[in-house]
Amino acid sequence: MADSVSDCKSTHPGPAGFSLDTMLVHGTVPFDPVTGAVSTPIYQSSTFRHPGLGQSTGYDYGRVVNPTRSELERTVALIEHGKYGLAFATGMGAISTLIKLYQPGDHIIVSEDLYGGTYRLFHDYYEPCGYAFSWIDTSDLALTAAALRPETKAIFVETPSNPMMKVTDIRTCAELIHRRGGHLVVDNTFLSPWFQNPLDLGADIVVHSGTKYLAGHNDALAGFIVHSDERLEEALRNVQKSEGAALAPFDAWLVLRGIKTLALRMERHEQNALSIARWLRAHRRVETVFYPGFEDHPQYALSRAQSRGFGGMISFYVKKPADAAVLLKNLSLVLFAESLGGVESLITYPLVQTHGAIPEPMRLAAGVTEKLLRLSVGIENVEDLIGDLDRAFAHCEKENGL
Ligand SMILES: Cc1ncc(COP(=O)(O)O)c(C=O)c1O
Repeated sequence: MADSVSDCKSTHPGPAGFSLDTMLVHGTVPFDPVTGAVSTPIYQSSTFRHPGLGQSTGYDYGRVVNPTRSELERTVALIEHGKYGLAFATGMGAISTLIKLYQPGDHIIVSEDLYGGTYRLFHDYYEPCGYAFSWIDTSDLALTAAALRPETKAIFVETPSNPMMKVTDIRTCAELIHRRGGHLVVDNTFLSPWFQNPLDLGADIVVHSGTKYLAGHNDALAGFIVHSDERLEEALRNVQKSEGAALAPFDAWLVLRGIKTLALRMERHEQNALSIARWLRAHRRVETVFYPGFEDHPQYALSRAQSRGFGGMISFYVKKPADAAVLLKNLSLVLFAESLGGVESLITYPLVQTHGAIPEPMRLAAGVTEKLLRLSVGIENVEDLIGDLDRAFAHCEKENGL
């Protein structure tokens, strides 16, 4: 399904120029040049000895640079088609660093339908300092264009959006903001570089919660920024070094290991998601299913034009709000937990979990109501997953009637 990436812009050594699935497996240093180790060593060292005064191996102190983290940063840059990658302890660590590129007085347009933690960071900590944000349905280009101001410095989008699965036109948003000399920032967590490369579509900066598909096993937290601008690199590295939210070596290794199977996992996540989305849509207790892979999704054509797949995330409304709690209690294979993108299927109740930080009027306007559930479809056997959902819906019938 994915295109070949023979035009990869990365300047890093290693197997750039091969197709993406090969690059995912090998990263930029396919074996350790000293020992031949095929798996990148975990350099569990907080500091590095200098050979002499004014001399350095290139590594000095672990907050600033670490060889395991550096390989991960190069690999994520490679697969996102950027020149530079920076790895952080969490996705929020990455977004906290990114926002420091801007100043009080700057205006930023943000997708209104986005991860609640990003909203909380911008609204609770940056708005009071004089940053201005417009929370817009960025899938509506007219609304987005109308929100631009002379002081707009960036558009920050999640596409597909979290949790309503709206798709924003990356190319057009990039054109809009570039006319003002600003940046388009895309949170590419939901599709991962296997299905979408925003930098190729004109975005300036990509951010990721690496905790999700990149790590892929619900066992590590991580965050990334990828871009290709030398001046931004200096500023971002300085924040990373000063604030100290850099990723630890063992977690960097876990994410490197996760990335090796990204292609296989994403294909299976998507295959399972499409079957489950169709099954849910036909279910008598389900009102609406939000999945960009449906041909009648409002931005289906746009998704096909800018992405190579639709991903493994589904949101849906149950007809009876009381069914939400019964489903969450009775699902046993699909785990009721707050995250996404791992091999295990997870179900989330956005109203109180991922989007609990968003004020009610904004949440309701975005569609995050008491009827909404979000499913991160894992890589289990799809019939087993559907069986689990079916049994949980049968409990709804018993408890809440037909
Ligand atoms: C789309 C998106 N971006 C960013 C984040 C924040 O990432 P983390 O939890 O790794 O800090 C999340 C977390 O759920 C997310 O879903």
